[in-house]
Amino acid sequence: MCGIIAYIGARDALPILLEGLKRLEYRGYDSAGVATLDAGGLNVARTVGRVHDLVPKVSDGSRFSGTLGIAHTRWATHGGVTEDNAHPQRSDQSEGGVVTIVHNGIIENHATIKKWLEGKGHEFRSETDTEVLAHLIGEFYEGDLEQAVQAALKEVTGAYAIAAISAREPDCLVVARKGSPLIVGIGSDEFVVASDSSAIVAHTRQAFSLDDYTVARITPGDIRTTTLENVVVTPQVQELEFDLGQIELGGYDHYMIKEIFEQPEALRRCTQGRLDLRDGRIVLGGISEFVRELSTASRFVFVGQGTALHACMVGKYLLEKIANIPATVEFASEFRYRNPIVEPGTVVVAISQSGETADTLAALEEAKQKGGLTLGLVNVVGSSIARKTDAGIYLRVGPEIGVASTKAFLGQVLVSVMLAGFVGRCRFFSQEQLKSLMLALDSLPEKVERILSQSEEIREATARYIDRENWLFLGRGINYPVALEGALKLKEISYIHAEGMPAAEMKHGPIALIDQGMPTVFVATRNSQYRKVLSNIEEVRSRGGHVIAVATEGDTEIESLCQEVFWVPDVNEALQPILTSVPLQLLAYHAAVMRGKDVDKPRNLAKSVTVE
Ligand code: AGP
Ligand code: GLU
Repeated sequence: MCGIIAYIGARDALPILLEGLKRLEYRGYDSAGVATLDAGGLNVARTVGRVHDLVPKVSDGSRFSGTLGIAHTRWATHGGVTEDNAHPQRSDQSEGGVVTIVHNGIIENHATIKKWLEGKGHEFRSETDTEVLAHLIGEFYEGDLEQAVQAALKEVTGAYAIAAISAREPDCLVVARKGSPLIVGIGSDEFVVASDSSAIVAHTRQAFSLDDYTVARITPGDIRTTTLENVVVTPQVQELEFDLGQIELGGYDHYMIKEIFEQPEALRRCTQGRLDLRDGRIVLGGISEFVRELSTASRFVFVGQGTALHACMVGKYLLEKIANIPATVEFASEFRYRNPIVEPGTVVVAISQSGETADTLAALEEAKQKGGLTLGLVNVVGSSIARKTDAGIYLRVGPEIGVASTKAFLGQVLVSVMLAGFVGRCRFFSQEQLKSLMLALDSLPEKVERILSQSEEIREATARYIDRENWLFLGRGINYPVALEGALKLKEISYIHAEGMPAAEMKHGPIALIDQGMPTVFVATRNSQYRKVLSNIEEVRSRGGHVIAVATEGDTEIESLCQEVFWVPDVNEALQPILTSVPLQLLAYHAAVMRGKDVDKPRNLAKSVTVE
């Protein structure tokens, strides 16, 4: 999720900025850039790719020698991965560049502000929301950078951490934040500002975290922190204490558990600016030009692999249930070779975290070849699938580093719900129904937090079955894909054999597997098929199987039937997979740790399968 570093003091800024960017690389990014101010003015270098690709661009010794600078690793949210979209972004392209900034976060009302600025003659070179903020600060600039930043930030909505400089104030660095982290390190005669402490500790351990809606004006020997209304506030300076190695994991033992616990925030980022609760609208800019084709589609075909395929299966249920459009699901690898029928009015939806899965990309190409309208539900901005599709919706859950997909799965399902609601509202879904769905969506982060608080209980329950080599995962309806996902999670990181299937399917053969103590996981929340699932649980119990249930909080009936129960809050049935998958992620994680496996890099697996 990208990073910022800024420096002002007695030393050359460039080496400190480059080293700081390297420290922030673990956060995941797609491009990088740096700007310094020296006697010769502003120097800017940007690159797509890695931080080390910047080095040849700044190796001209006569430039980049200043003692003030800002730098950035970008995780694109608005605008593809290009050099023009990389940061720093400037308020204008004049030599001095009145204002130059780097930004983490999303300026939600960037489109409105951009239109207003264009009316005042501003011309833009990038597709980013950040450049809009740079021009807005430039518009307010009258010789005082702190004042211009304060004025501009009063006009924006969304999340930001920014660092700003101006060639007209070569001894002044202005930083500000709201919603995205920013820490100010205080050295003996210098300041280092960064997205997290990993880029600061090498220089100082005295630091404070900037509060939301706070601006800091920093000169080589002084710092002043104020509100947007220019009211002085006193920061709480603390001693930074941690092991650098830990910082990259944010204190977690593995990226997977970090990303599992990031899920509430990931859900908030995913819906940010997309749920207009006041007017009861789902706002999806990436597909809005295809409203007519989507609302009159004859069929939706979801394609993906692995966890993304499970999200496709949930998407199918949602399109049929909410938008009342026939939908099917295909393994991308099967779809691509089957000479599929893609009749007029077919929408093919590719779901992919990486946006680089070879089979999914090939399935898309096959669909395009046959005239289908193609959508991408993808996490990595500017990835091959994102570029190949006619339209799409980014997950915006931030970089997922653990090979086992967790927060991306929740993002895939959440975006599928928003897609179904968006299309459904153009058909038979009422305003009231949509508002109710949106309120339920808005409640999800807090509900996921409640589930995460059970992690220790889930670990203890998992320990009781850690020696079992064969598990069954069962679910019905919209929770059937969750059963498949739970089985995949367990087998791919703990190497325990696990099989997921529709609960009713058990009687057609697999029930022969049930023997004394066999762990059988049921996704058994209160919903339209709850009673049927209870019957299936009885069938397993009567044959000696041990039942582990994911159940709705307060369900005492199911508690009396099961050896273990993992509780989830009640929620609209269409959203249950977002909650019911979380306990199964934790089960798989704890099993893998207890069995001493390499959780983040399981054997034989790659984070993105770019070969067929
Ligand atoms: C899931 O935990 C695995 N990492 C794998 O099944 C993955 O979902 C699949 O390879 C698809 O990847 P994608 O979402 O990047 O296309
Ligand atoms: N929204 C900005 C962009 O897309 C900043 C993204 C980030 O946080 O890196 O450029």
